[in-house]
Amino acid sequence: MNDLMNLANVTKLYGTGENQVEALADINFSVNQGEYIGIMGQSGSGKSTLLSIMGGMNPPSSGKLLVDNIDVYKLSSEKQADFRREYLGFIFQQLQLIPYLTSLENVMLPLVITDVKNHEELALSVLEKVGLKGKVNRLPSELSGGEQGRVAVARAVVNDPPILLADEPTGSLDSRTGREILDLFHELHTDGQTIIMVTHNPKAVAGVDRLIKIKDGRIVSNLTKSASNI
Ligand SMILES: Nc1ncnc2c1ncn2[C@@H]1O[C@H](COP(=O)(O)OP(=O)(O)O)[C@@H](O)[C@H]1O
Ligand SMILES: [Mg+2]
Repeated sequence: MNDLMNLANVTKLYGTGENQVEALADINFSVNQGEYIGIMGQSGSGKSTLLSIMGGMNPPSSGKLLVDNIDVYKLSSEKQADFRREYLGFIFQQLQLIPYLTSLENVMLPLVITDVKNHEELALSVLEKVGLKGKVNRLPSELSGGEQGRVAVARAVVNDPPILLADEPTGSLDSRTGREILDLFHELHTDGQTIIMVTHNPKAVAGVDRLIKIKDGRIVSNLTKSASNI
């Protein structure tokens, strides 16, 4: 199998007995190298659960996740952490910047636990790429929402991860600043970055190659752009 990522018969149940929730049921799809995938569904449809399973952070109740032919949930927890570090960049709705660190320090953070040399140089080059060259020494509170989003994107890709995962990345932003993040995704995608973005916002998925819709934990459609005219 040559897919970068494959989910096979993935289900997720939370809770037990009467309180049991079936968050995902029989999820099957693959992600190709370089693809930009949008996953859309209403609140509560299972998007965050799906993304956390793809991120090696939340074991499915059944089924499996293969990334680069690695059976992720068969790895020890230590190896799963290595896997996440090597393969994934994350962006969450609450951007989760560290408030007392500057843009530069926030972006350097993921490099602390790698063998990469020249942390500062690398972080500066990525900040320049996202258009924040002049704001590297500012705290998050000294940046606009869109700029904070760009710091979060820079931090997610500074390790050059094969896969970028984003959970409602425009959710906390107004439409103009949300647009800035989506424009950055488009640029990264053009440079070959594989991106998987979940959102409830139809406008956010305008630029994706493929749109997967989920409802009540099930995939209801999975269409490439040319087929669906999104
Ligand atoms: N940790 C959890 N424990 C129990 N139920 C959860 C948990 N996380 C999510 N759920 C439930 O699973 C369903 C899907 O949630 P979620 O994946 O967060 O959806 P979305 O991101 O699309 O809003 C919802 O019914 C939610 O209440
Ligand atoms: Mg969610």
